[in-house]
Amino acid sequence: MHIFKKASDIKQFIRKLKAEGQSLGFVPTMGALHEGHLQLIRRAMSENEQVVVSIFVNPTQFDEASDFSHYPRSIEQDILLLESINCPILFLPSEEDIYPDEALRNRTFDFGYLEKTMEGAHRPGHFRGVAQVVSRLLEIIPATRLYLGQKDYQQVKIIHRLVHDILKLPLEIVVCPTAREVDGLAISSRNVRLSKEERQAATALYKTLDRARKESSRMTPEELKKMAVEMLLQVPEIREVEYFEIVNADTLSPVSSWGDSSQIIACLAVRMHEVRLIDNMFLKGIH
Ligand code: PAJ
Repeated sequence: MHIFKKASDIKQFIRKLKAEGQSLGFVPTMGALHEGHLQLIRRAMSENEQVVVSIFVNPTQFDEASDFSHYPRSIEQDILLLESINCPILFLPSEEDIYPDEALRNRTFDFGYLEKTMEGAHRPGHFRGVAQVVSRLLEIIPATRLYLGQKDYQQVKIIHRLVHDILKLPLEIVVCPTAREVDGLAISSRNVRLSKEERQAATALYKTLDRARKESSRMTPEELKKMAVEMLLQVPEIREVEYFEIVNADTLSPVSSWGDSSQIIACLAVRMHEVRLIDNMFLKGIH
């Protein structure tokens, strides 16, 4: 595996690949790699001649200092995992390469309602940080295809807007399904921070979404939301349900009836003692 630590080096390498006409898949990550990441990388490897995985724990997207300092970091293990699946290229940029000046670190974008709801409302500045790092990474890695997980559905919508409407890049975005543990819990780098009891309790997220999907024909979105919040709050380890929203999968605005949109998705965020978990599921239409 080629490992690059400097933007100038990987840029030069990619220029050569592109000149040879090779397609390039790109999978941006923050490391602590797990099966969810690996599914994105395998898909990218099956659809492109070359694939770059980046690992960079982006400080500007963390709204809580403690979440940033506790974010799991396991670079040696990540490299072994990437080598085990024959990933061709890894980019490990430094903060200086991503944010060489204050202007880039403070860059802002307007995502309208997409950044005002759900994660945007509960994590101020989060999507601004995501857009800052993704726009910089795409300047360095002019990929043919960008691979993202449905696990972070609102992030997918934000990056779509960034890439296609704001930066106007000729880039295909490929969204991969959420990888789950056998009991349904969405795999996440943050799951390792859950206590044994919390890990067990966290299955309630998938169970609630699955139940919501099954019951959706019998209730209005409002009734379904009430049922789901009650189900989640019955679990003592869940300290708070930050949101459970049933929204138009395109605009992310809440729906009041099932006829409001051809694609409807339920998104949620809960807080355990120290860890915050998110998940989502389509209730109508498929992505
Ligand atoms: P990270 O949380 O490391 O996730 C990297 C990519 O893996 C994202 O596209 C995410 O949606 C996807 N992913 C995570 N868990 C998944 C799962 N269980 N199933 C499928 N896909 C999954 O998301 C970020 O990093 C950052 O915000 C980033 C885009 C890299 C910008 O810093």
